[in-house]
Amino acid sequence: MNTVTLPDGPPLPRFVQGGLALAAPLWMMGRLHTRYGSAFTINVPVFGEAVVISDPAEVKQLFMTGPEIADILGVNLGRVLGPNSFFAISGDAHRKQRKLLVPPFHGRRLGAYEAIVEQEAVREMATWLEDREFATLGPMMRITLNAILRAVFGADGSELAALRDLLPALVKLGSRLVALPIPRTDLGRWSPWGRVYAYRREYDAIIDQLIAVARQDPELGERDDVLALMLQSRYSDGSGMSREEIADQLLTILAAGHETTATTLAWAVERLRRHPALLRRLADEADAGGSQLREATILEVQRVRPVIDGTARQVRAPGLKLGRWTLPQGQIVLVSIYLLHRDEALFPNARSFDPDRFAGGRPDTYQWIPFGGGVRRCIGAAFAHMEMNVVLRTLLRDFTLEPTTERGERWHSRGIAFCPAKGGRAVVHRRTGKRQSPDHAARAEAAA
Ligand code: HEM
Repeated sequence: MNTVTLPDGPPLPRFVQGGLALAAPLWMMGRLHTRYGSAFTINVPVFGEAVVISDPAEVKQLFMTGPEIADILGVNLGRVLGPNSFFAISGDAHRKQRKLLVPPFHGRRLGAYEAIVEQEAVREMATWLEDREFATLGPMMRITLNAILRAVFGADGSELAALRDLLPALVKLGSRLVALPIPRTDLGRWSPWGRVYAYRREYDAIIDQLIAVARQDPELGERDDVLALMLQSRYSDGSGMSREEIADQLLTILAAGHETTATTLAWAVERLRRHPALLRRLADEADAGGSQLREATILEVQRVRPVIDGTARQVRAPGLKLGRWTLPQGQIVLVSIYLLHRDEALFPNARSFDPDRFAGGRPDTYQWIPFGGGVRRCIGAAFAHMEMNVVLRTLLRDFTLEPTTERGERWHSRGIAFCPAKGGRAVVHRRTGKRQSPDHAARAEAAA
């Protein structure tokens, strides 16, 4: 291989760069971009020396590179989600799992999930109080968690209620820990990792129960939920998914499938309240049964506020010539979604929130990349888009969202996803004249 050439980067010690990356990751990216341009090398705990890229041609080349050349990085996510999670497997195992699990989140099946999302949105929004400011992140989390639970398991039941309590705690703690180095010694069951493992044991017990019930269902063959599909799926050698594979992949889908969508929805509320003219156009469009501007708005929210700021790959081949750089085997490359989406050459006036920029059609999938790209692109992208569309449609149809002149909410890191710092606060008025039931009002009061 040719001589290694990496982009320049700050000469600061690893612990200083690590501290900055934890305390102000986006500020750090912005500053380094200004200083070094679209590629630079950082040195931080967990990743070590990592090349950050945001040049569109280099990003496209990396995403199009086969997994035998560059693939996902074996980061801590596998420790939380399990060794059979999408985020821990590669090569053949990964290809097979995608073949099995991409179809349930695409095409015809999405239509069936739409009704579930609308029911969950209506149910949650019935608890909203008028004229009182509240954070929408919690409600959005409940909608998206319930929607993905029902899509994955079919009917509701007591086990789902247990998962509804457990998953937010597991995801919250797990996503904070993945960004930190793993302690060298086992700090016991009261340590943060000890707690993650305890949650995981609880999760496994619930899943075993759900699998046992599903296996006894005489109508399993007619069901189209993801668990039923997993239990009936067969690899080309005729074998089925193991219990461990099912448990890890279900957890991956549940964890990846609700917080990201909910934080994006909270950002949508945050952005829309600061753009009253757009809000009016969206309400008119919803009344007329249209969806074009709403769909463009979702794309633009994901561009200006990508809740996942970057994704990582590691060079597997003996070397990789990536654009201007020659990377050695093992080199970690971080694609900065955040920086690419702020590229003025791709998105003129990139800092402004302007859904009309997408009015002409869908953006280029290598330049608009909130769902990553290539063979690792998010399997839930179409599901998430449908979900956000239905939730926003319900919101616009049933409520007036009060505009505000307050400053935009700052970005707040929840570990993996970035949310609006105040949770996407809203003030709403019911449009239909429907009154809340007293128990709904009490629940909303408690949630506030
Ligand atoms: C707005 C919502 C969402 C965002 C922003 C998002 C973002 C992402 C990103 C950035 C990746 C990494 C892609 C890469 O490395 O190139 C990813 C992967 C993944 N996402 Fe999502 N996601 C969302 C919703 C969902 C939903 C609803 C599901 C489940 C139905 C899901 C399941 C997954 C899975 C399983 C992977 C791993 C794919 C693989 O490694 O092959 N995500 N997502």
